[in-house]
Amino acid sequence: MTILSAEGLHLGYNDLEVVHGVTFDLRQGEVVALLGPNGAGKTTIMRAVSGLIRPMRGSIRLGTHDLAGLAAHQIVGLGLRHVPEGRRVFGSMSVAENLRLGGYSMRKRPAEIRSRIDEVYGLFPILGQRAHQLAGTLSGGEQQMLAVGRALITRPTVLALDEPSLGLSPRISHEILSTAARLARDGTAVLLVEQNIRAALRIADRAHVLELGRIVLSGTGAQLAADPQVEATYLSGQAAPTPGRDAPVDRKAGH
Ligand SMILES: Nc1ncnc2c1ncn2[C@@H]1O[C@H](COP(=O)(O)OP(=O)(O)OP(=O)(O)O)[C@@H](O)[C@H]1O
Ligand SMILES: [Mg+2]
Repeated sequence: MTILSAEGLHLGYNDLEVVHGVTFDLRQGEVVALLGPNGAGKTTIMRAVSGLIRPMRGSIRLGTHDLAGLAAHQIVGLGLRHVPEGRRVFGSMSVAENLRLGGYSMRKRPAEIRSRIDEVYGLFPILGQRAHQLAGTLSGGEQQMLAVGRALITRPTVLALDEPSLGLSPRISHEILSTAARLARDGTAVLLVEQNIRAALRIADRAHVLELGRIVLSGTGAQLAADPQVEATYLSGQAAPTPGRDAPVDRKAGH
């Protein structure tokens, strides 16, 4: 069953179009990855899907809802949560307080929110151990887990993760991405933007490669991982450990 579908999306800032007619969908139980070099438009698509920017053209549907014109908080209410680039946790609040804030939009009894926080501690046990620690003093990986955990408090049907492994060690990246895969199997479909293409293709059911605002390649994670063009263009320079975001990507290679 399709949960999220984007059709013919044209996106941009002011009058400048940076995404030129992108179409993709996300089905229940799936991880779909959006990949591609810096500036390809991945974050812009995440912003449109979560209602932070309006499409210039095209449509986005979440379940039976057309998202056109809806504000970001309304889209949260419909079951889509976005974890933006750069793990923004509230540094001067504790882990537990950050998680409680994740439920701000729910008119739920405190006991229910507590039980959802416990679910997050089940997914990321380190957060439970650090429940009373100030979020600003967590490690980068722990902060990313907290950012993901906070989004999960409302039990979203779609989780949009923008570069969750950025700057993290291979081990912590693996933990976060395998948790994302588990979430998808358990009913929260995941739209994933990743600069660690190899790791993303390992967990993605399907993936799209974007360049300059257009999808240039699509396939299952396994197909793309085995694609010589993907290998030559995106993977050959990408060995563990994860390169920084400014690592050069030679877009011409392999074309
Ligand atoms: N707020 C903004 N105002 C104007 N232009 C923007 C804005 N945000 C992004 N852009 C431009 O839109 C294009 C796509 O950017 P976007 O952030 O979507 O790329 P990305 O694929 O997420 O890249 P990265 O891998 O570096 O995160 C870029 O040319 C960028 O300069
Ligand atoms: Mg980005």
